[in-house]
Amino acid sequence: MLSDELIARAAEILRSGGVVGLPTETVYGLAADAENELAVRQIFAIKGRPSHHPLIVHVASADAARSWVSSFPKEAEALAAKFWPGPLTLVLPRSGRASDAVTGGQATVAVRVPGHPVALGVLKALGGGVAAPSANKFGGVSPTTAAHVRHDLGDALPLILDGGPCQVGIESTIVDVSSKDLGPAILRPGFITSAQLQAVLGRPVPVVESSEVRVSGSLESHYAPKAGVVLCSPDEVRKRTAFLRESGKRVAGITPDSVALPAGVGRFHLPDDAVLYAQRLYATLRDVDAQGFEVVVVVEPEQEGVGIAIHDRLKRAAAPRKG
Ligand code: TXA
Ligand code: MG
Repeated sequence: MLSDELIARAAEILRSGGVVGLPTETVYGLAADAENELAVRQIFAIKGRPSHHPLIVHVASADAARSWVSSFPKEAEALAAKFWPGPLTLVLPRSGRASDAVTGGQATVAVRVPGHPVALGVLKALGGGVAAPSANKFGGVSPTTAAHVRHDLGDALPLILDGGPCQVGIESTIVDVSSKDLGPAILRPGFITSAQLQAVLGRPVPVVESSEVRVSGSLESHYAPKAGVVLCSPDEVRKRTAFLRESGKRVAGITPDSVALPAGVGRFHLPDDAVLYAQRLYATLRDVDAQGFEVVVVVEPEQEGVGIAIHDRLKRAAAPRKG
């Protein structure tokens, strides 16, 4: 575990307007003091992200979240009580504390209490809110280890805290609870499933495909490795990879252990279990790139529970790309 000195140093850098790489239980974040506009602008510059895209404000407790929002409806209270600290982000009406730099000029702010002890340690030491998108270049694969952050953004960061590999492995579930008229809705599926949300709220919480708010993770192509991504069923994967291989491409497959691949095709195995699959997915996509494959054929887990969030990410990774 990290020393208290490193956590204190990270808080000091944040206090003085710098940015740091920070572990959370979902993915590593690129953190800046959410109340320092210049610091927040550095996040966009380092990531290469359009500056009107809103960021999540991370805080140490549900109580700390209150000062960032102008109302905290009963349903939000119930979700916070059940899932915080944890991989859930709530979108709520913003208070004056949340600047346009963080919210992208929207009337709402996204808040989350992360479950990782290092993230919580830094937030407590800072005593404020930290804006933190995933610590990768815009559109790329989110980092789930400190080494991933170093690889993508190391040159731009004075400090990357190493909290070990992320336990969840995919980004938080984002739930919009900001509307009095519309019911709660999932803007980005994640580890906390619709069924878990429904169990707390006593009503269905649908995944909404297009919403007025700008969620960069909802852009068509996102979470994408360099290699082309092709989604495929288990019984087609041999044929698909063989075909691509014959066309002269450097091909890899991501499959369950039980599926065999043709000779000359790179093999990457992920478990059938969606929770374990999510934990290792991004590291595996990064390995595919590191080994120089041009295309990867991916077999997904079943689309239920966490499998829905995995499908959401893989669908965007497989989407047509610009340029
Ligand atoms: O698990 C996570 O959420 C990670 C870790 C670091 O906490 N963070 C993360 O941040 O995934 P980012 O910036 O890569 O994705 C945050 C998403 C973006 O798609 C953004 O558009 C959306 O949250 N978002 C932020 N504020 C919003 C708002 N007010 N309304 C709707 N969406 C919002
Ligand atoms: Mg991201």
